Amino acid sequence: MENRRPLIAGNWKMFKTCPEAVETAKQLAQLVDKNTVDVMIAPQFTALVPVSDVIKGSCILLGAQNLFYESEGAYTGEISPSMLVSAGCRYVIIGHSERRQYFGENDGTVNKKIRAAIKNDLIPILCVGESEKERESKETFNVLDRQITIGLKGFSLDDLDTLVVAYEPIWAIGTGKTATKEQAQEVHQFIRSIIEKIFGNNLAKSIRILYGGSVKPDNIKELMKMPDVDGALVGGASLDAQTFSKITNFQG
Ligand code: PGA
Repeated sequence: MENRRPLIAGNWKMFKTCPEAVETAKQLAQLVDKNTVDVMIAPQFTALVPVSDVIKGSCILLGAQNLFYESEGAYTGEISPSMLVSAGCRYVIIGHSERRQYFGENDGTVNKKIRAAIKNDLIPILCVGESEKERESKETFNVLDRQITIGLKGFSLDDLDTLVVAYEPIWAIGTGKTATKEQAQEVHQFIRSIIEKIFGNNLAKSIRILYGGSVKPDNIKELMKMPDVDGALVGGASLDAQTFSKITNFQG
């Protein structure tokens, strides 16, 4: 896995009230081992500030699940990158398949959001992945090529030195169907090759590519053995502190 530091990220989606989020974060801060991997949690927006207070001093970093690309203005219901930074965020998830499916996000808006994140020193986690139909019709590589090429269009090498990519096959999200470790490796290797083609070998070697889709304590070890899997983006199994800490502590 070269020298890439693993990242285990928890996406809490639209779950947990503020008190519930704070309680889970408190438990996690006790359970997550220090210094072996990077750990991030992304609670819903109203829980960002209280969760940020609770995880201060622990090795857990805060992330948001989305942002808007404008810096401020009359955009009812949206949140800007600097607002996320001021709430304590270090990471932001961009282009999650649920955003693409239910909220009209496309590769063009994803591109703008990545630019806005980078400008504000937020680490973007660009989510890509194919649907079941696309996999069956052997479109997986074309879909990923398009999502990455357009998503990262116009960026310089310097812009992308913190970028994280998350491969999340839509058919594996919340379904209990995990991609096999071989399927994950095949796609991760392909993603790295596209990055190499566009941005060169150095970024291809250093960029972290996470796998997401029904990651659980009992499959994380196998996935992490694959040479191009650098971590995980975890949904359902990140909601419970005990379960998520078993994933973050996969090395131990
Ligand atoms: P899941 O979700 O772990 O519940 O499959 C993954 C994700 O959507 O990031």
